[in-house]
Amino acid sequence: MKLVVTKNRKEGSQIVFDFLYDQIKNNGVQSLGLATGSTPEGVYQLLAESDLDFSDKVSINLDEYQGLEDEHPQSYHYFMKEHLLQYKPFKESYVPDGTGSEEKVVKEYEDILEKHPINIQLLGIGVNGHIGFNEPGTPFDSRTHRVRLAEETIEANKRFFDNKEEVPKCAYTMGLGTIMEADQIVLMAFGEGKAEAIHKALEGPVTTEVPASILQRHNNLLVVVDEEAARDLSQETLKKYR
Ligand code: GLP
Repeated sequence: MKLVVTKNRKEGSQIVFDFLYDQIKNNGVQSLGLATGSTPEGVYQLLAESDLDFSDKVSINLDEYQGLEDEHPQSYHYFMKEHLLQYKPFKESYVPDGTGSEEKVVKEYEDILEKHPINIQLLGIGVNGHIGFNEPGTPFDSRTHRVRLAEETIEANKRFFDNKEEVPKCAYTMGLGTIMEADQIVLMAFGEGKAEAIHKALEGPVTTEVPASILQRHNNLLVVVDEEAARDLSQETLKKYR
């Protein structure tokens, strides 16, 4: 694991962008695993403004709310179009079909992942330590599946909807086992609201109660956090992984 602590979100986004830029230009990256949420927005803006060409590459998103049409402004399909894909089209882009049946979505997604193993997976983290929509209690060997969202996730994500009742109760997500198969993983977190989740994910025991803690077992993990999100990390960790 390598850990980079930046002054703020802007610097953190730049570090992640620089890393991606180098890997895409010089390391033959073909398949990018993408995340939604406010955390990666700055990285997508930098990618959108860059001279990178994605027309021969594949993007694969982590998750989607169940029941939302692609055109719904809070769907992750819409988010990706809005923040990146309208500026930088990929050869193929995949986001789980929020309106498909569980059986169909799971099969489709696992087939896609088998055909396009992910070279670099971007991740944010939920306040409860979730990655993708893998809530506490999700088995480490899980594949793409349907989840019931945790109360704290609905609470955290209601800011994007008119009211809490509008937040879908379920979602489709790549599983923890699926995510761990990526060649490289980049975990990002900004702001003090993520400090506890980052502390537990990186320094706590590896437990299904903190889904992101499984990342401690990935052998190619880059963590980029700002000072606020790094607040609860020990000096030992900060030194060891810098
Ligand atoms: C959402 C997404 C995650 C994301 C997380 C944090 O629920 N499913 O992929 O990492 O919440 O979101 P944000 O970056 O807005 O804090």
